[in-house]
Amino acid sequence: MAGDDKFASLIGSQRPQATNIVIFGANGDLTKRKLLPALAHMHRWNLLGHDCRIIGVVRQKWTHAYWVSYVHDELLKFFPEAVLNPASWQHIAEKLELVSGDLGEAETYQAIADKLHAHDGRKNALFYLAIPPAWYETVAQHLHTAGLNDESEGFRRVVIEKPFGMDLHSAQGLNRSIQSCFDESQIYRIDHYLGKEAVQNLMVFRFGNSVLEPLWNRNYIDHVQISVSESLGVGYRAGYYETSGALRDMIQSHLMQVMALVAMEPPVSLAADDVRDEKLKVLRSVRRFQAGALQHRAVRAQYAAGEVEGEVEGEPVAAYREEPGIAPESTTETFAAVKFYIDNWRWQGVPFLLRTGKRLPHRVSEICIRFREPPQKLFKLSEENVRNNELIFRLQPDEGMQLTMTAKQPGLSMHLRGVKLDASYGMAGSGMPEAYETLLHDVMLGEAGLFSRADEVEECWNIVMPILDAWKEQKDIATYAAGSMPGCDADVPGMDELLAGCQGGWRDLSRH
Ligand code: BG6
Repeated sequence: MAGDDKFASLIGSQRPQATNIVIFGANGDLTKRKLLPALAHMHRWNLLGHDCRIIGVVRQKWTHAYWVSYVHDELLKFFPEAVLNPASWQHIAEKLELVSGDLGEAETYQAIADKLHAHDGRKNALFYLAIPPAWYETVAQHLHTAGLNDESEGFRRVVIEKPFGMDLHSAQGLNRSIQSCFDESQIYRIDHYLGKEAVQNLMVFRFGNSVLEPLWNRNYIDHVQISVSESLGVGYRAGYYETSGALRDMIQSHLMQVMALVAMEPPVSLAADDVRDEKLKVLRSVRRFQAGALQHRAVRAQYAAGEVEGEVEGEPVAAYREEPGIAPESTTETFAAVKFYIDNWRWQGVPFLLRTGKRLPHRVSEICIRFREPPQKLFKLSEENVRNNELIFRLQPDEGMQLTMTAKQPGLSMHLRGVKLDASYGMAGSGMPEAYETLLHDVMLGEAGLFSRADEVEECWNIVMPILDAWKEQKDIATYAAGSMPGCDADVPGMDELLAGCQGGWRDLSRH
């Protein structure tokens, strides 16, 4: 496909209205790693609008020239093509504007309003809150007071990063506060997992084909495993991670959203609220955790020193407690595994096992649907053959779908082996949009289907609260060596019990 045709097919027919992008936290990590490259990419595809500006807001006393050179240097690291072509960089640089000011001061918001009115471009604006959550309410209140939520001249949308609250109570408070400043239709709560191509494809596979639907229930499915395994450690995010841990950081948001997409009924339409209504129904059907009876449904652990896959294989790495900024006696979990049941007609009795962790052997995210054994045992099935009875959705890397089945080993005797039907999407290196591009594009289009609604976020918190409360009381935590997998090659108490009654053991994430 010729370059332009390929872009056209990636972008599709919908072009967003020209939109000014206001980034709070313009000097932060998210901005340099994700937002600037995403915006530069969108600019290349001509999706930002000619007259529109990218307005960075920083608390430091920066000059405009410094902001321009900052963006140049960060793009050089994270999306070099955007700056190596002088014409392309010139266009991006012309879009850059800066507001230096305190986020708690009204003048800062007046300066933003002045910038938005300073040129003839449409007055649409997207306010991206790439700032610590403690500032969300302050910024929303000031935007409201400055009239920047008023849509009479163009749309005004606010994008809020996770974590959305630290527990049910704070999430409810935050929702109330933001909703007093913006209408729910103007609020976009980002869960970047929903922007991943393979996660969107999950809906297409389920509802764009009829072959899966008859199998997609308790009659054929033994259990579901959703795994997000990271080989990286906590890195530079100690301050945030110490107050969060794996359950809050990953399960309450990304993994539970994926579970809802796997389990939901077909929506009436693809309209945002029709999809979100179906996801909410799943979440409301999740069996509640009873305090005092958690030991067979939730496991946590923390990484000790070990070796992980890195640039150099078997690189030695420090224990979590020895990482910079981490308390030496910290009991924050870097691994969590939770068994959910969805008490509805389709899923009654089918365990959904969600597990995630840092410093695990591989960077792999996938959904494994494990089917029941055939009712009649004509062939002698080994544990391995049972494991072959799986449908895998690989979210990253190498996005794709794989059905593993049992077949006869060629030869004179009746020996069985596994065969794979592999539908790789073949997207690696194809210039596919990153999750943040997809999500920014959707905000500009006003499509909210890939964003979490207030009631979904609160329901997710509601479900995990008993686990968070119980873990808060625990003075100790099990460990696993960095580079090992709890329940597989690392013995973490509770991991075997979590799988009790499920066929085939924990899925080995190195097998693909
Ligand atoms: C973020 C978490 O939301 O997702 C991080 O805060 C985690 O801790 C990251 O590393 C994982 O995202 P991805 O896209 O790399 O799987």
